[in-house]
Amino acid sequence: MQGRFVRESISEYSELALPNDANGLGNLLGGKIMHLVDLAGAIAAMKHCRNPVVTASVDHMDFIHPVRIGQLVRLRASVNRAFNTSMEVGVKVWVEDLIRGEEQHVSSAFLTFVAVTKDGRSVSVPPVIPETDDEKRRYHRAGERRAYRLSQRRRE
Ligand SMILES: CC(C)(COP(=O)(O)OP(=O)(O)OC[C@H]1O[C@@H](n2cnc3c(N)ncnc32)[C@H](O)[C@@H]1OP(=O)(O)O)[C@@H](O)C(=O)NCCC(=O)NCCS
Repeated sequence: MQGRFVRESISEYSELALPNDANGLGNLLGGKIMHLVDLAGAIAAMKHCRNPVVTASVDHMDFIHPVRIGQLVRLRASVNRAFNTSMEVGVKVWVEDLIRGEEQHVSSAFLTFVAVTKDGRSVSVPPVIPETDDEKRRYHRAGERRAYRLSQRRRE
C-alpha cells in the first residue's frame, strides 16, 4: 500500500469553552477536553487512512493548565505512525485567551485508532512517511510505545 506523508492528515480543531461544560470552579471539565482530543485524533486518523476508525486506546493524560469558560481550546493532531490496521495519533491541546491573546499548553495525548469495516473488522492502513526530524523522532518513539502497549495487553 502506498505511504502517506504526515502533513497530509494533520488536523486542527478549535472550540470555545462554554458554561454547559464547566465544573463547579468555572473551568472546563477534563472529560470535555478528552472528548475533543478523541475527535481531533479521529479526524487525523481518518484523513490518513480514508476509512472509518474506532478508538482502541488512549495513553496517559495530564492536565497541565486549566481552561476557563470563554477561552478557546485549540487542538492539533497528527498520525505518528501506522502499523497494520492501527495508527498512533498524537494530539496537543492549547488554550488561547482571546482577550489577552495568550496561549498555554493544556495537555498532550497519544491515541491508537483502528480502521474498521461497517461490521467492525479491522482493515489495513497505509504506512506513514515521516519527513521532518520531529516526524522521524515521533515515528521512532511510536514504535517503542506500541511495544509497551502490546506487552501490557498480553498481561491482561
Ligand atoms: C479496537 C478493536 C477494533 C480491536 O479489535 P481486536 O479484535 O482486538 O483486533 P486485533 O487484535 O486484530 O487488533 C487490531 C489492531 O488493534 C490494535 N489494538 C487492539 N487493542 C488495542 C489497544 N488496547 N491499544 C492499542 N492497540 C490496540 C492491535 O494492536 C492491532 O493493531 P495492528 O493491526 O496495527 O497490529 C476492537 O477491540 C473494538 O472494536 N473495540 C471497540 C472500539 C470502540 O468502540 N471505541 C470507542 C470507545 S468505546
